Amino acid sequence: MAPKIRHILFSASILLLSSCVTLTAGVPASDATGSSPSGEKITYVVVGGGTAGLAVAARLSENVDNLVIVIEAGADGFDNANIKNLTGPSIQALPGSSVDYNYHSMPLKFAANQVVNMTRGKVLGGSSAVNGALFTHPSKTDLDTWESDFGATGWNWNSLSAAIDSAENFTPTARLASTTSFHGSNGPIFVTQRTPTGDVWTKGVIPAVVASGGKESNDQSGGDPTGIWYSPKAMFPNSTRSYSANSYYLPNAGRANLQVHVNSTVSRIVWAQDKSKNGQMVATGVEYLDASGQNTTVSGDRVILSAGAFGTPQVLELSGVGNPDILNPLGISTVVNLPAVGENLSEQPTSRYIAALAPNISNAGVQLTLNFESARTLLNSTEWDKAHELIQTAPPGLSDTAHKALIRMFEGDAPLIEFMGFPNPANLVFLPILLHPMSRGSSHIVSTDAKQAPQFDLALLESPFDLYILAKATERARRFATQDTVKPFVAAELAPGLNITTQEQFEQFVKNSVGLSYHPLGTAAFGSVVDKDLRVNGTANVFVVDASIIPLQPAAHPSALIYGIGEQAAKVLKASPLSQDADTANTNNPPPSAGRHSHSRNFALFLGTFVFGIVSTIIW
Ligand SMILES: Cc1cc2nc3c(=O)[nH]c(=O)nc-3n(C[C@H](O)[C@H](O)[C@H](O)COP(=O)(O)OP(=O)(O)OC[C@H]3O[C@@H](n4cnc5c(N)ncnc54)[C@H](O)[C@@H]3O)c2cc1C
Ligand SMILES: *[C@@H]1O[C@H](CO)[C@@H](O)[C@H](O)[C@H]1NC(C)=O
Ligand SMILES: *[C@@H]1O[C@H](CO)[C@@H](O)[C@H](O)[C@H]1NC(C)=O
Ligand SMILES: *[C@@H]1O[C@H](CO)[C@@H](O)[C@H](O)[C@H]1NC(C)=O
Ligand SMILES: *[C@@H]1O[C@H](CO)[C@@H](O)[C@H](O)[C@H]1NC(C)=O
Ligand SMILES: *[C@@H]1O[C@H](CO)[C@@H](O)[C@H](O)[C@H]1NC(C)=O
Ligand SMILES: *[C@@H]1O[C@H](CO)[C@@H](O)[C@H](O)[C@H]1NC(C)=O
Ligand SMILES: *[C@@H]1O[C@H](CO)[C@@H](O)[C@H](O)[C@H]1NC(C)=O
Ligand SMILES: *[C@@H]1O[C@H](CO)[C@@H](O)[C@H](O)[C@H]1NC(C)=O
Ligand SMILES: *[C@@H]1O[C@H](CO)[C@@H](O)[C@H](O)[C@H]1NC(C)=O
Ligand SMILES: *[C@@H]1O[C@H](CO)[C@@H](O)[C@H](O)[C@H]1NC(C)=O
Repeated sequence: MAPKIRHILFSASILLLSSCVTLTAGVPASDATGSSPSGEKITYVVVGGGTAGLAVAARLSENVDNLVIVIEAGADGFDNANIKNLTGPSIQALPGSSVDYNYHSMPLKFAANQVVNMTRGKVLGGSSAVNGALFTHPSKTDLDTWESDFGATGWNWNSLSAAIDSAENFTPTARLASTTSFHGSNGPIFVTQRTPTGDVWTKGVIPAVVASGGKESNDQSGGDPTGIWYSPKAMFPNSTRSYSANSYYLPNAGRANLQVHVNSTVSRIVWAQDKSKNGQMVATGVEYLDASGQNTTVSGDRVILSAGAFGTPQVLELSGVGNPDILNPLGISTVVNLPAVGENLSEQPTSRYIAALAPNISNAGVQLTLNFESARTLLNSTEWDKAHELIQTAPPGLSDTAHKALIRMFEGDAPLIEFMGFPNPANLVFLPILLHPMSRGSSHIVSTDAKQAPQFDLALLESPFDLYILAKATERARRFATQDTVKPFVAAELAPGLNITTQEQFEQFVKNSVGLSYHPLGTAAFGSVVDKDLRVNGTANVFVVDASIIPLQPAAHPSALIYGIGEQAAKVLKASPLSQDADTANTNNPPPSAGRHSHSRNFALFLGTFVFGIVSTIIW
């Protein structure tokens, strides 16, 4: 019996393998430009065709020697009018629809036990298809900590701001201040400001911010976002959304060496039976449920996880990379003991301030403003001392490294709060967003079924510092709205409500009404899960390219940075021959002397996996 099974599976593996080789060999040179210095043929399997996933896939497939296969759980979404249209009613229709995973948080223990819905794009383009499309460059301080504190050599403001610029195609808007040298002009993502209508911002809010000790910015994109500005959006000149699916993928969809499989959910990484000689696990490809529900395998030389801050730790854990205490009860054997997978989850909590517009103000316009302020602007000296005392105590799960960096940024007047000035036809809304929260949560699988949502604890407001700052920011939003310049535009405060006056009452209001910014990240971060080459610790050839690698929340909405991560990741990978995969940054061994040809290597590893599969079938 056993030998017969072996024979059948062995033939199947040869069939699959030959189809893979055919695809690789069939790439016409005219479809893409560039080749690697070594001329190596490399097959990349990208898990998740989202924001970063399609950016890295498009850039890697510029090189004809690379075959890039993207596996995306959602549909292509190109016929979804609500994705294209960036007006309020359209984007408000996306959460909870078929293109949203619509995850539910665990009850927020420090915020009235609320369960909040976390929108995540389940569609080609990922969350860039369903987001608010704000395109904001982070601050220099944020990005420099990656290199100085988290061991991410080569990942700093200089390299990442250049990478963001290469994602961006910025068009200035007449009469609005901007500094074109802070922006990219040749990238695939179109970015532009909207022209404000009405006088709410120009005559009301901007002078009010200045009168309250804030300032006006001419452009927040040059490394210091401080001040209020008409922040741009990722959209074409005709106001339709520019996102990874229509801007990175579609223009390159004709490349034969770029293949995208939609409606396909990756269930795990497939590992070679024998580890590479440095004891690192070697991936031979991934297993996925294809569009017809078939259990399928695709092989590759390198696996890139771009499944997002929840999806990436999920796939790692399903593949046996993580904390044995989480994997064992589910019957998953640990192949790499890496307890930081799914930990360090960080989300920026929000509060809100809402005032009804005066009856003679019909429309505040669709343009919004962002106002970034440091603790020095937000707080008076007594309050600053109080906050400085609160920041000394780390909440559970906050690493020493991150804690030190947060204290340094606080003391160095880094932006701490963003006021998002949000127009709607009837109200003037300020959403204070805590940019650098201390609280840390986690996200882990609770099932071996890849289609079951992970369970996550956002731990919002667990840190008293976080609560204190958001309460102060809510109070400050009221100060803007009650300045003389704003008074003619507003009728009455709707939230928090005039009966809220003490710090205690503001804190209670924040706990009861805390909101999400939908910026979760950090679950496979530099310094704990990936090294400077984005390689997952303990593996030879598994990389993470998405929001999971970000070690600290940036003073920004993160999509521009996440495109930049895709851009920079492609550069790093293009410059790294396969021989480096056996010689990870965690070892000091020299690379193997003999270069291997990827196809024969593929073949050997693939065969190894199948033989291993057969052996396990027979034994268990
Ligand atoms: C409602 C909302 C508003 C936002 N507003 C803004 C904004 O205005 N500006 C801004 O900068 N940022 C905004 N963001 C945040 C930003 O969009 C995200 O941080 C960013 O898009 C995340 O990129 P990513 O590549 O890490 O993940 P995603 O873009 O989410 O990509 C992950 C992809 O992986 C796929 N996937 C997951 N698991 C699997 C699997 N097992 N197999 C196959 N595929 C899988 C998913 O379907 C998805 O396509 C917003 C987010 C939301 C949800
Ligand atoms: C993917 O799924 C969607 C919705 O279920 C369907 O409309 C679409 O045709 C599918 N696409 C492919 C390529 O299977
Ligand atoms: C977008 O939607 C708004 C209303 O929701 C509508 O007025 C507008 O025409 C739409 N734009 C496009 C390009 O479809
Ligand atoms: C959260 O999602 C559920 C569906 O799972 C929905 O019923 C509920 O209205 C959503 N809540 C909010 C606040 O949108
Ligand atoms: C808007 O512009 C984009 C890019 O040029 C184009 O693909 C799209 O069809 C346009 N949409 C509308 C509604 O004109
Ligand atoms: C797919 O098939 C492999 C090999 O038979 C098996 O180990 C795995 O559990 C299957 N996966 C799913 C999700 O059914
Ligand atoms: C969080 O990340 C840090 C590195 O920044 C790491 O040292 C720590 O182990 C991680 N936390 C957990 C709980 O794994
Ligand atoms: C700072 O503001 C608080 C109210 O939050 C007030 O009690 C205190 O006197 C102020 N301190 C200074 C130095 O202005
Ligand atoms: C709106 O009407 C009020 C009361 O008549 C007036 O004080 C205010 O100046 C008006 N606002 C604007 C912006 O015209
Ligand atoms: C303030 O007023 C609102 C609405 O009337 C009420 O729900 C809330 O409990 C009040 N809060 C305080 C602290 O009095
Ligand atoms: C990676 O793992 C090795 C041991 O396997 C350890 O020495 C090293 O510190 C780890 N690196 C990170 C970034 O966790």
